Amino acid sequence: MALQMDNQEVIISTDLADSLETAIARCPHDKLFILTDSITRELCLPLVAGLPCMEGVRNITIGATDENKNIASLSHVWEELQRGGATRHSLMVNLGGGMVTDLGGFAASTFKRGFCYINVPTTLLSMVDASVGGKTGINFGGLKNEIGVFSCPSFVILDTAFLNTLDDRNIRSGYAEMLKHGIISDTSHWADLLNFDLNGIDLKRLGDMVATSVAVKERIVSQDPTEKGIRKALNLGHTAGHAIESLALEEKRTVLHGYAVAWGLICELYLSAVRAGFPQDKLRQTVRFIRENYGIFPITCKEYDRLFEFMTHDKKNTAGIVNFTLMADIGEILIDKTASKEEIFDMLDFFREG
Ligand code: GLY
Repeated sequence: MALQMDNQEVIISTDLADSLETAIARCPHDKLFILTDSITRELCLPLVAGLPCMEGVRNITIGATDENKNIASLSHVWEELQRGGATRHSLMVNLGGGMVTDLGGFAASTFKRGFCYINVPTTLLSMVDASVGGKTGINFGGLKNEIGVFSCPSFVILDTAFLNTLDDRNIRSGYAEMLKHGIISDTSHWADLLNFDLNGIDLKRLGDMVATSVAVKERIVSQDPTEKGIRKALNLGHTAGHAIESLALEEKRTVLHGYAVAWGLICELYLSAVRAGFPQDKLRQTVRFIRENYGIFPITCKEYDRLFEFMTHDKKNTAGIVNFTLMADIGEILIDKTASKEEIFDMLDFFREG
């Protein structure tokens, strides 16, 4: 199945080799590169390395994990592209999680002013979020995704067979973004997500829900590729979530991104209930699901100021006013909503006390 989105096509794949052959054949190129990190080079590259469409491919590898999503890794990729004779007509396949697809997309989009790339996400988080929608970039100056461009991949190949390789925490991390897509789309998808058992995962059903989830993101991105308006819906849970993630990093109790997003959803749905009338029963059900499946992130009142400071530095703000996406109900999105310090502290009280 292939879904069209601007210049990006998402292939829901049941046969990785076949999907990659198709995608590469539809991207005429002079030189082919494949970007992996040290983990996907070992675990995923062998799945595609021997394919006829990979003949003559040059592998570039960068360090795994977010700490390598930096200018040094990017520079290494540019150097390897130069050494390999890449031109504006070359093609790169990014095989990995969000770090590889973000950095690889940025490298391809900037080398000689840009050539085409294909994303093959290998984590749930990158399948449902990072690899789709054309946000590319690297961390810089201590800030996440500080430097980057909007530039869509030619193809995204979603092969849910990779889900078999993921541990429980990484499934839950990606699932939080799916939960967000449920809340911003419709009651039936939201209810399906809340009824899914994360303790005994049905991979077939999860795969079907991934396709629905990505379709939600595609629909929104196609209306607003560069986040001037409705794409801000995808930031639900992320203003508070990024602040929690940054605090966790600072206090050396690092959490996976999706866990912070799940906790951010608790905060921002509470704010939605207070400010926009989001229904109390739906708030309760969503909060219960998150607490049961993601646990809690303990904070004290002493950390409120620091969390508030992180929120005011969020790059989604204008003029230092904290900007939220709120919900009037499931699927009823309100963008560009601000909140006072008092309202934010009240939200943190709810998060802390439950
Ligand atoms: N991760 C949110 C977006 O792609 O807009």
